[in-house]
Parts: sequence; C-alpha cells; structure tokens
Amino acid sequence: MTIIIRVDPKKPSRERIRDAAKIIREGGLVAFPTETVYGLGADALNESAVRKIFEVKQRPMDDPIIVHISRDNTLQLLAAEVPEVTFKLVKKFWPGPLTLVLKKSKIVPAVVTAGLDTVAVRMPSNKIAHMLIEEADVPIAAPSANLFGKPSPTTAEHVRQDLYGKIDMIIDGGQTEIGVESTVLDLTVSPPMILRPGGVTHEELESILGEVKLHPSVRRRKKVLEVVKSPGMKYRHYSPKADVILVEGKSGEDIERKVAKLVDEYRREGKRVGLLNLVKEMKIEADVCIFLGNSPEEVARNLFSSLREMDEKKVDLIVVGGIEEKGLGLAIMNRLRKASVRIV
Ligand code: TXA
Ligand code: MG
Repeated sequence: MTIIIRVDPKKPSRERIRDAAKIIREGGLVAFPTETVYGLGADALNESAVRKIFEVKQRPMDDPIIVHISRDNTLQLLAAEVPEVTFKLVKKFWPGPLTLVLKKSKIVPAVVTAGLDTVAVRMPSNKIAHMLIEEADVPIAAPSANLFGKPSPTTAEHVRQDLYGKIDMIIDGGQTEIGVESTVLDLTVSPPMILRPGGVTHEELESILGEVKLHPSVRRRKKVLEVVKSPGMKYRHYSPKADVILVEGKSGEDIERKVAKLVDEYRREGKRVGLLNLVKEMKIEADVCIFLGNSPEEVARNLFSSLREMDEKKVDLIVVGGIEEKGLGLAIMNRLRKASVRIV
C-alpha cells in the first residue's frame, strides 16, 4: 500500500511532512521531490531500510546512494575528512544540486556507500525535501525514485508508475524545477573531479575552484565496462522502452541533415519514429514530435518526462539531435549518451 499526499512545494504543510518523517524514522520508504528529480528516501543510518531501497528499485548493490542533509554540520558527522575547498562550495552551492564525495566516517553503513570508503552528500534546496530531512532528524539516503534503468522521475506520477505498491508514501510536490540530477563532485582528489555532470555546471564550479576535471566517462560514447570510480557509471541508464538514437555533428545544420535522413530511413522500414527537438524545432516529419524548449534549462526540465511520453505514444525509436556541451548542455548530453543504443 502506498499513500500519496499532495504538498505545496512553496509552502509545505509541516503537519503532513511530519507524517512522512515518521515513516522514515520507522524504517519505511518515502518518495519526495527535490529540485532535481524525485528521490526515494530512507533513514541513511538504518541498514535494513536502505537495503529496501535497492530491492524496490531493483538496483545493483554496487551502486552507492547519495545522503541528503538539511544542516551544514551534519556533514562533519558523515565525513571523516573535510578538505578546505568543501566550505567554499557549501557556501556557494548549498542548498542546491551539488553532491560532494568525501572520505566517509564510521557511522555511514556500508550498504549506503556500496562498500566504498567515500560518501556522497548533498543538501537539497526543495522546501519539501528540506523539511522532510529536518523533521525526520536523520540524514536521508535517496537515489532517484525510478526503477533501475528507467528515466529519473520528475513528477509524482512518474514515481507512481514505477513504484506504486512497493513503497510506503509518495509526496506529490509537482514537477521538479531542474529536471536532471545533481552534479557529483569528487573532493578526495586534487583537482576535484566531476563524476556526473548535473544541475551545477562545470563552468560554475571552475569559477569558484579553478581547474575541475571531468571523469573520462562523462563524455564517453561507449558503455563503460571496466571497474570505474562511481559504480553507477557502468550501467545503461535513463532508458525508455524505445531505442534512443543520438545524432551528433559538426554544426546544427549537419545534425539536422543527419536526423532528417535517419528519420526518413526508419519510417520507410515501417518503424514508428519519435523525434525529440532540443533548443531548436527542426522542420522534419516524424510520427511523434516533442519540443523540449528554447534553452538548455527548459530542455533539462523536460528531458526525462519526454522519454516517458515517447513510450506512452508507443514509438519504436526515438531520434534526437545533440546540443552543445556548455552549461547544462553537458549534463543533457551525458544523459542522452547513456540512454542511447546508438550514436551517429
Ligand atoms: O539529484 C540527485 O542527485 C538525485 C536526488 C534524489 O537527490 N539523486 C540521484 O541519486 O540521482 P542516484 O542514486 O540516482 O545517483 C547517484 C549517483 C550514482 O551515479 C552513484 O554512483 C553516485 O551518485 N555516487 C553515490 N555515492 C558515491 C560515492 N561514494 N562515490 C562516487 N559516486 C557515488
Ligand atoms: Mg538514478
């Protein structure tokens, strides 16, 4: 049985959030909105509660989970070492879509970090998320609230589709603002390294820190099968049922030409083809066309829901033209590469 409650994201009712917090404290699972995507939360210090997250998501046990906090000083509790740069970042980007990887303390159960000696910590800015952590009065371990391998949920309805009946509660706080997950930044290396691009951009981080490296997998086209630093990197992710074909190119025109040719070829083969238009609407005929918006921010907000929508419209294939890897474009292209079965 899953209880679904509606909460105003601008002015959350503390009473309702208390009911949710009680479930967390008792070892249950609550899906809640953050500014990035919906998370599936459990008491991070309760091993059996965290284990349930892996079960209901069908998530491999070697993929560690982010711990969400509501106060700066909880960080010292979770991390064994907090390098000086951390404070600069916390001051500038918390609460917000930045996750920091630090050496873990003993109180963090191994199941949370998948046995790694580091822990990933973030302070969400969404008011519901913030109040939930505050009221639960424990750090909350939360991956995205989707079934493993599916696009991350940006509405409570997406969570319902994937997890209804398997978790105790879903807090419906409307559509998430950013739409792609947080940036995961490794602070155990120098210079710091982005393990997953997200809501805080590479450019923003470099303006505060100077050089920030990108993990090779961030831009990699091929699936990574060797042992990697962030185990989540090696699996196929964000995938709708339909096969995603990503088209990259030298210029906008080059990409548009290639997309037009592909869409035409697939339709001649009798396939039902969906076309995702990012930033610019292409004048190409397809069976289903979705325009994601004029800016990378709008595209990010609508990206995952558009993949789910394509499945609802029963397309066989989704063709999408790439965009520039600047600002949020880096995170968008990272997710599209991971979702795709073929890159042209
Ligand atoms: O925006 C977000 O980050 C959302 C919301 C709910 O906060 N959460 C999220 O969690 O996207 P998840 O589990 O879907 O992705 C977490 C990523 C994975 O790629 C995982 O491998 C990485 O963070 N990660 C977690 N702990 C890590 C660690 N100790 N070292 C390296 N990577 C870690
Ligand atoms: Mg996820």
